[in-house]
Amino acid sequence: MFLIFYILLCPSSSSADTPFPTVSHREMPLRPAILTNHQIMGSAMFTTPIMVIAGTRGHTSLSDLTLTLQTVLGQPGVQNKYVVVVYDPRHIPDVFALSRLFNFSSKAIVPQNFNDTMQYYEVMQVVFETAHAAFPESPYITIVEAGLLLAPDFLAYTASLLPLLHDPNILGISAWNPNGYLNVSTRPDLAYRVEDFPGMAFTLRMDTYLKELRTKMKECCNRR
Ligand SMILES: *[C@@H]1O[C@H](CO)[C@@H](O)[C@H](O)[C@H]1NC(C)=O
Ligand SMILES: *[C@@H]1O[C@H](CO)[C@@H](O)[C@H](O)[C@H]1NC(C)=O
Ligand SMILES: *[C@@H]1O[C@H](CO)[C@@H](O)[C@H](O)[C@H]1NC(C)=O
Repeated sequence: MFLIFYILLCPSSSSADTPFPTVSHREMPLRPAILTNHQIMGSAMFTTPIMVIAGTRGHTSLSDLTLTLQTVLGQPGVQNKYVVVVYDPRHIPDVFALSRLFNFSSKAIVPQNFNDTMQYYEVMQVVFETAHAAFPESPYITIVEAGLLLAPDFLAYTASLLPLLHDPNILGISAWNPNGYLNVSTRPDLAYRVEDFPGMAFTLRMDTYLKELRTKMKECCNRR
């Protein structure tokens, strides 16, 4: 189960919006999809770091990661320089080379003691710090767990909801609906306000991390 809310913002959706590779795409260079939806052009979402987390729990395969990265690259308006793959090279080697194929950055994370297992909150801390160091001006951060297949409108959906993050009562925008099966998703224009935090593929204010989470990652953020 992968996807979630469909928001159809773009009535004249063109072929540039079709991210999923087919056989005829095999020989094509890996290029980001082009944004044709004028309503969301200029959204901060297109300059928000997208941090893809891979192999930190020992169960992402390189092929799963490849599929995830294809769906990231397929987001209309995505820019390579904002995509960073954070990975544990003990569990998933070769990510550096794979990320270069996509022209994404990558960052290997290993604990100080090579044999230690990193807790989820420690991984998240590195992810936030890496994004903040690389993109200090960015008010937002997007986190995507490898193994997910993003719906083609993931970025458009988040861009259109991004203004909601001005409301301090809203913690984040998640693209994951655990009940979001296609057979029960009849309202493409509907987003839910929920109390829990589904994680998986979400966008937060960087300030939320810096001011509220940073010093208590272990307490707040050790569960997916
Ligand atoms: C890779 O991305 C950089 C921006 O980060 C861009 O300047 C460069 O042209 C891209 N290279 C290719 C081969 O697409
Ligand atoms: C890690 O574990 C291996 C095998 O169990 C051991 O040989 C090695 O010394 C350990 N390394 C560290 C830094 O503890
Ligand atoms: C929708 O699909 C899911 C997954 O296949 C299934 O578990 C569920 O029963 C379906 N619901 C309805 C209302 O058909």
